[in-house]
Amino acid sequence: MDAIADRIIRPEAAPQRTPVPPFDLVIFGASGDLALRKLFPALAQRNQEGVLPEDSRILAIVRKSEDVTGLPNQIAERLAQDNLAADEIEAFLRRLTMVQADALQPESFAALKQALGQSERVRSFYLSTPPDLFIPICENLAKADILTPTSRVILEKPLGRDLASAREINDAVARILPESRTYRIDHYLGKETVQNLLVLRFANTLFERSWSSRDIDNVQITVAETVGLESRAGYYDKAGHMRDMVQNHVMQLLCLFAIEPPNMLEADAVRDEKVRVLKALRPIVGPDVQRHTVRGQYGAGQSDGQRVRGYAEELGHASNTETFVAIRCEIDTWRWAGVPIYLRSGKRMAQRYSEIAVTFKPVPHSIFGSGPGCDRLDANRLVIRLQPNDGVQLQLMMKVPGSGRLKIVPRQLDLRYETAFDVRTPDAYERLLTDVIRGDQTLFMRRDEVEQAWAWVDPILAGWREFSPQPHRYAAGSWGPSQAIGLIERDGRSWADPEML
Ligand code: BG6
Repeated sequence: MDAIADRIIRPEAAPQRTPVPPFDLVIFGASGDLALRKLFPALAQRNQEGVLPEDSRILAIVRKSEDVTGLPNQIAERLAQDNLAADEIEAFLRRLTMVQADALQPESFAALKQALGQSERVRSFYLSTPPDLFIPICENLAKADILTPTSRVILEKPLGRDLASAREINDAVARILPESRTYRIDHYLGKETVQNLLVLRFANTLFERSWSSRDIDNVQITVAETVGLESRAGYYDKAGHMRDMVQNHVMQLLCLFAIEPPNMLEADAVRDEKVRVLKALRPIVGPDVQRHTVRGQYGAGQSDGQRVRGYAEELGHASNTETFVAIRCEIDTWRWAGVPIYLRSGKRMAQRYSEIAVTFKPVPHSIFGSGPGCDRLDANRLVIRLQPNDGVQLQLMMKVPGSGRLKIVPRQLDLRYETAFDVRTPDAYERLLTDVIRGDQTLFMRRDEVEQAWAWVDPILAGWREFSPQPHRYAAGSWGPSQAIGLIERDGRSWADPEML
């Protein structure tokens, strides 16, 4: 009996997440905007949940001596704003070790080395700094002999400012750490709805069968923000919206939307498929840049009911940096041939919302008639909403109840996260930071992905320099320059309305 029982193949148990091992997490750029707004709150949340092992530490690297005492107070204030209880804030601050060091001075790494001591814990180095510091920091870590066999480095986006600089960074980091211990972060990959995109596609047969040019008419990916420059003028004006949002967040959404099914949910299986999508993106080069892309910059206008200044006024001087990008692209594969994909992202837009809107083809023939007096049949539309009100919405045509004339209208199947699940949606960084410590690279970008994305973006940036050095104007609080509307209307289509905000 036992022998037969042994031969029965049992389904594998659902994979359990490994516990977070003891760690030292070193944050460079600890007094910066990202660390204060996102990294410390995410870690404090994980600490409160009891996920961080007892003896793990967070080492905050600051350059100025006043930050050594000032930063813990700022962190405490920030956590209090997030309604963290006073004892939780204290417990979190006990994990914090402040280290004063200048990332560009090799000698100042001695203080970090001493603070780290001889521990066996997993060492993670988060480089929440501009990309031009990535190489010196990695080199200084190596010179100071701080890197252990399990050490890993986390690189914030954007990685470089073009393909050449990204390669230079990747080469330099690769001389110090292997790819398996290099984590290129794009926090959009840590968002619940972005992860759910894989589940929606590959845990349901319904969509996968119609996920191609046979059934899909067009796809629109929108990442719209209402905020303007905020306090990041130095960084943003040099980067521009293409490097800040499109080369990474928007293109990652595009990849996950379009990938072929990986054979399993494993880092390289997923990343191999993403690279294939990036390689199949049709290049937009030379005069096509003007036809298929629009760059804009916001002027004065209204945002969230308030009068706001234009970008140049906020900045204090004239600038040709774009704060808005729209692109019409195509993926040259059997699955996607002929399906236009419209990307749109900008600051100071009418509403904050991010979504992927998939419009299906119309029915081939309407049995309900198509002449005057007949109801128009709208195409089915699937909206995968990232924020706000993350969830999934499917637009179907329905009969209006009644015994009079047959009346047909569009209605929504609306599945929102907050109503479907009675659990808090974690912030993207909460998941990603512990993934690094666990050693799971699935939601991080591999070197070839980042470089392939730059290889596609570079000719567009070059085309802008040549053909449209001045961005088109749009009023703050609008949907971007009129040229972006023209971009899609030329194809006889229009941007999807954000219906379920
Ligand atoms: C960051 C960009 O990566 O993402 C910011 O640098 C942008 O400019 C932010 O505001 C948007 O993130 P989220 O999660 O608020 O959509």
